[in-house]
Amino acid sequence: MKIQKALELGCCTLHSETALLDSELLLQKASGLSRETIYAYPERKLSLFSQIRFLYYLHAASHHKPIAYLTGHKEFFGMDFQVNRHVLIPRPDTELLVEEALKILKNNSYLVEIGTGSGCISCAIAKSKQDLQILACDISRRALALAKKNIQRLTLQNTIRLQKADLIVPKIEKADLIIANLPYIRSKDYLALPLTIRKYEPRLALEAGADGLKYYKKLLAQLPNYQGVILIEISDLQQAQELETLFPGFHYEYLKDLSGSIRALKITKKT
Ligand SMILES: C[S@@+](CC[C@H](N)C(=O)[O-])C[C@H]1O[C@@H](n2cnc3c(N)ncnc32)[C@H](O)[C@@H]1O
Repeated sequence: MKIQKALELGCCTLHSETALLDSELLLQKASGLSRETIYAYPERKLSLFSQIRFLYYLHAASHHKPIAYLTGHKEFFGMDFQVNRHVLIPRPDTELLVEEALKILKNNSYLVEIGTGSGCISCAIAKSKQDLQILACDISRRALALAKKNIQRLTLQNTIRLQKADLIVPKIEKADLIIANLPYIRSKDYLALPLTIRKYEPRLALEAGADGLKYYKKLLAQLPNYQGVILIEISDLQQAQELETLFPGFHYEYLKDLSGSIRALKITKKT
């Protein structure tokens, strides 16, 4: 099979809006060829080994396996992150948290990230701002093992420390900023998620009880006197309003994503 034919087959099999890009990523992974080679030599014949691998990837992708888990990589904030089935695939919406954090953090600031997963948020922040101290935590040992790899690949081991923790870490009050993209999907919404998410991405990284606030309620309840800034990603306005009602001692700034939907909250203690 030639490169051009393989891409055409990929587009017909995958049917999605991103079918061409996804086919190209799978072909790169299957053949080891670069993007440039794929487009420069459409008539080049693929080796039998590359063809078999490509067909296997196409079959898995057409049965809902996320492209990022097949390639083992996902781009976030312009950087390449390794991913596997123990971590959530980084989402473009989450870049909002990084952008907001970069506005808040000063040189030598101390940042604590709760629920780091692949480490994408902490790494993106550390790469964009010098002289930070970051403690990135997760409850999942397997997620932390992958975050460690990403930190090493980006040579950030002098900036980011990892710790296994269930939400809170000792002396968290000393942080200038606490950032968290914890699970926030309501249980009933979780069941309606596309198969590609529900079947493959870790439930531990997504679902958070009937109101989707199980983790954020626990987190805020443990920080009644915290004087720094808390940045969290949420699902929608309703979750924002529920947190405001439950924790009236804080001031809440709503942050919107590119589509204009409320996607994050900047929370500070009322003075
Ligand atoms: C929505 S994912 C976010 C991952 C990553 N920060 C990102 O933005 O792509 C939530 C993460 O929180 C972690 N998590 C779930 N429960 C936790 C808990 N009780 N304490 C700490 N981390 C938790 C999960 O293992 C998962 O890695």
